[in-house]
Amino acid sequence: PADTPLAGRHALVTSGPTQEPIDPVRYISNRSSGQQGHAIALALAGLGARVTLVSGPVSLPDPAGVNLVRVETAEQMLAACEAALPADIAVCAAAVADWRVAHAATQKMKKKPGEAPPPLELALNPDILATLSRHARRPRLVVGFAAETEHVIDHARQKLARKGCDWILANDVSADVFGAAENTVHLVGRDGVEDWPKLPKTEVGRRLAARIADEFQTATDP
Ligand code: C5P
Repeated sequence: PADTPLAGRHALVTSGPTQEPIDPVRYISNRSSGQQGHAIALALAGLGARVTLVSGPVSLPDPAGVNLVRVETAEQMLAACEAALPADIAVCAAAVADWRVAHAATQKMKKKPGEAPPPLELALNPDILATLSRHARRPRLVVGFAAETEHVIDHARQKLARKGCDWILANDVSADVFGAAENTVHLVGRDGVEDWPKLPKTEVGRRLAARIADEFQTATDP
């Protein structure tokens, strides 16, 4: 039906930050609010898709009509994404921590008077977008984000190639975006670029969902 063009499709969306433990009470994270990823999940569900939203810790209401899988770390997020496959669509909007603590302590680290601060050895986290893009069960359409402060389109094109995804939503973050309600994005594909006006994140979600529906429509029609 026209109002549910993504009926029968499964969409996987990542959202929010990840939290990487230092010890049982401390972690490394970032300022991602999850607003954009959650808005995309909601918009895809609104077009009839079955949506699995894999989210790090956020203080947002659970989006209605979406399967929410809560995770903390990047490794958990990757495992949850792989467990959700097969999917027709993957949108990676999470701000995955690039690094985790190589050897997280199992007991709270104690501060001892006169002792130097402990060193933190970091290990590289898996790249979820790149992994899904090259997966044996790769979703047909894989979309990533790029936050850039300069050469926004060029950097997005390079990221598209490096990650192996189909589209990059390139975000101009020269103005503050984390936690803000609006986004200025460019949809960068292999064949071209669409410049979108500055829009509320909810509207970016709806536009992206509509573009995805178009893509499946044209790809399916003779
Ligand atoms: O490499 P960079 O972090 O700039 O790439 C951003 C894109 O890659 C976003 O779509 C983000 O969700 C995704 N990403 C990921 N796993 C990582 C790092 C980034 O899925 N470990």
